[in-house]
Amino acid sequence: MRVTLLRDKGIVLGVTGSIAAFKAADLASKLTQAGAQVDVILTTGAQRFVTPLTFSALTGRAVHSDMWAADADPDGHIAHVRLGEHADLLLIAPASAHTIAKLAHGLADNLLTLTALAARCPLLLAPAMDGGMYHHPATQANLQTLVERGATLIKPDEGRFASGLGGRGRLPEPPELLGHVRRALGRVGALAGRQVVVTAGGTREALDPVRQFGNRSSGKQGHALAQAALDAGAEVTLISSARHLPTPVGATRVAVDTAQEMLEATLAAARAADALIMAAAVADFRPAQRQTQKLRKRGHDEGLRLDLEPTADVLLAVSEQRVQYGRPRFLVGFAAESEQLLQRAAEKLARKKLDLVVANDISAADAGFEVDDNRVTLLAPGRAPEELPLMPKSGVAELVVARVAGALVQRA
Ligand code: CTP
Repeated sequence: MRVTLLRDKGIVLGVTGSIAAFKAADLASKLTQAGAQVDVILTTGAQRFVTPLTFSALTGRAVHSDMWAADADPDGHIAHVRLGEHADLLLIAPASAHTIAKLAHGLADNLLTLTALAARCPLLLAPAMDGGMYHHPATQANLQTLVERGATLIKPDEGRFASGLGGRGRLPEPPELLGHVRRALGRVGALAGRQVVVTAGGTREALDPVRQFGNRSSGKQGHALAQAALDAGAEVTLISSARHLPTPVGATRVAVDTAQEMLEATLAAARAADALIMAAAVADFRPAQRQTQKLRKRGHDEGLRLDLEPTADVLLAVSEQRVQYGRPRFLVGFAAESEQLLQRAAEKLARKKLDLVVANDISAADAGFEVDDNRVTLLAPGRAPEELPLMPKSGVAELVVARVAGALVQRA
């Protein structure tokens, strides 16, 4: 999946001697697919676990390992200077205890440590080691030195090691590593220093201890919006009911189920927000009474009548609160409609006093609920509706976030 933030970014991926080196191959593949130019440096130890061919096949680029190789570029720069100078990010994953120790002391005895000394870009370190090595005071002191110098540490996971021992020291999975790369590259984006709140997923209202009212919202569009805001450098609060979806790296997640929980969490977060993007599908009704015992069927042909009561309109409540707090500065709503799309979306824009409405026609089979693509029209006060073509939800998210960022610059 292409990611605008990563397109043509130069990433030097250093791989050191660890059983987790195989995960770096998947990471190199994901970064390349996202559009980055990935230059891999393998240490001698790494080559015991993975081969240069693995990485050159996945990245489509030469793989480097020999600091004595005479592969100077046309300007005469030798490999470590060229790699270090052209990189937007140096990521070492997995980073062994030995390489971390060398970096902390400024040793430069192989191509990777030489490049780390020559590079002026941010350094992201993902330690991976067995047993008590991560917690050893020597490793901790070395990591602290590197963090004090500006390196960003990706904390290893807890779990079982290849040796059979357990503890902290496992390399996180590639999707999480990719999230850290996006966070590191996005820091200087158009939303740096801004607070963005995103709501996602469909709310659930319990009828009895077993059954619930829900809707078809998967939360994918909301989570994509949170990721796009992170890519633009924002501090993101993600209020989500989509328990099955991972939290984008860097987002603060608030888990909710019901419309009432969504209301309380959103009103609280919105008070300090620069922007709120209300992508959640909030139930308009809930059972008037929640049964404490499971409802039983009576006779075979006897039906069941339920009383429903209205829930609060979260977006309207935020809009009213905005009059008092002046926040959020920018308010985005969604309109999922099965008919009269533009007319109904325009009505929501005016009635809820929004700055932007993202309208989608939910009668289309190829876009909207559950699938990965969306076809939306953007409506803003005083502007002609902007119809966007069918595109991945991540693309819709990037465009919406760009609109938010553009508007905030004007309102600053
Ligand atoms: N919304 C909300 N709280 C609700 C219902 C909706 O905050 N109880 C928000 C949604 O997150 C979305 C926008 O309002 O951003 C539009 O949702 P929709 O249900 O389409 O609008 P309604 O105002 O409920 O209008 P209607 O059901 O009449 O179409």
